[in-house]
Amino acid sequence: MGHGDWKDMFKGVHENDIELVRYHIRMGVDLNYQHPEFLTSPLMESIRGNHLEIMALLLENGALPDLKEVDSNQEPSELAKRLGNIEAIKLLNQYLPPDKRLDLSSVILHKATMKAVICTKYGAPEEVLQLKQVAKPSPKEDEILVKIVATAVNSGDVRVRGLAVKGFMRIMMQLIMGFKRPRKPILGTVFAGTVEQIGKQVKNFQVGDEVFGMTGFNFGTYAEYIALNQNANVSLKPQNATFEEAAAIVFGGQTAIYFLEKTRIQQRKMPKILLIGATGAVGTAALQIARHFGATITAVCSSRGASVVKRLGVDDIILYDQTDFTQCSQKFDIIFDAVGVSTSKQCRHLLNTGGIYKTVGGLDYASETKAQLALLKKLFENGELQATIDQIFTMEKIVAAHQYVDRGRKKGNVVLKVA
Ligand SMILES: NC(=O)c1ccc[n+]([C@@H]2O[C@H](COP(=O)([O-])OP(=O)(O)OC[C@H]3O[C@@H](n4cnc5c(N)ncnc54)[C@H](OP(=O)(O)O)[C@@H]3O)[C@@H](O)[C@H]2O)c1
Repeated sequence: MGHGDWKDMFKGVHENDIELVRYHIRMGVDLNYQHPEFLTSPLMESIRGNHLEIMALLLENGALPDLKEVDSNQEPSELAKRLGNIEAIKLLNQYLPPDKRLDLSSVILHKATMKAVICTKYGAPEEVLQLKQVAKPSPKEDEILVKIVATAVNSGDVRVRGLAVKGFMRIMMQLIMGFKRPRKPILGTVFAGTVEQIGKQVKNFQVGDEVFGMTGFNFGTYAEYIALNQNANVSLKPQNATFEEAAAIVFGGQTAIYFLEKTRIQQRKMPKILLIGATGAVGTAALQIARHFGATITAVCSSRGASVVKRLGVDDIILYDQTDFTQCSQKFDIIFDAVGVSTSKQCRHLLNTGGIYKTVGGLDYASETKAQLALLKKLFENGELQATIDQIFTMEKIVAAHQYVDRGRKKGNVVLKVA
């Protein structure tokens, strides 16, 4: 049987198309054939995708349950155990000799937990953040299970953890997040990782896809795994990005695109922009995205941050610890405050006719779209966007990571390495 037929049958396994698989079995395809391009067998793929009917069909027709996988030398039962796929284990056990069968109780234990950081109540990092074993999610029919490799500690996370807002906004936040403690105790909103399992109805992703995205108010990314709807704010990560870089560009990148689009930057011809607070997660992303749209950029930052913005490339810099930017003699088409330290009133006189002022510090809240992720992916892949990473912490150092971000001085992003 030629590769084409084998590939076609493999496609059937992937897409959970049992008739296609049945057809190729009838045609005599070798079920244990491992094409180097795929580095896996149909049986392994059916376990990964949780396609139990196909798995049973493959086993009945001679797929070997103790087949070694080409790339990692793993057995199907080890994969099923790692995924906590109890039904797959039960099926495999029927085809394995008694001494090779897996003990289900150890599998159930394995399935049950994952490492995650939970926030027990609002407060200081050392008082409220704990690394714990919690229930591992399993994907529903239209969900993917992502094994997270990296996340980031963002300004939004520390704000929620510390309930660091005042007045009316504080009550709003408590209504949304929970009164005494976050209703969703696993914080973290961005992730980069690998799709490890897919539900039956999933068409948009495949097992093994390297993805990145943001969960927003659903949080949950300070964890080894997250289950997400296939239509959620998740996309293939930039091919040339490490997982750490991919996790670092999401929060600032999506926020920057949201606000810059509101300034109608795309419709303006070579706009002049004043970027206040160019060195944070939002600022470093906004700088690069504005440049992509052909803007001439004047960045406002501290002397400490000057080297960061110089490296990213700006036309002019105003050091706020030496000069008051509101006294600037130039005028701009766009003023974007990416750190929320100014008011429209302070900046109005710096705008050209038809100019616009936007700030992250107002009541407008950025919303995430897949189109934003697509733009970030494109810009990273063509070299127009780089990740600005200040520090990388391990999950065990979550308290130190939050304390660092709490200071409000980070340059770009703080990454949390999960795996
Ligand atoms: N509305 C929304 O939808 C939305 C979404 C995301 C974020 N935000 C808000 O946007 C703000 C920025 O977020 P982020 O993640 O980029 O924060 P971040 O990374 O923590 O920003 C810190 C950076 O701001 C710089 N900075 C501090 N004070 C400054 C000042 N007076 N002028 C200029 N730069 C200053 C700091 O450098 P130096 O200390 O060296 O100056 C540091 O590099 C946060 O308040 C966040 O809550 C809002």
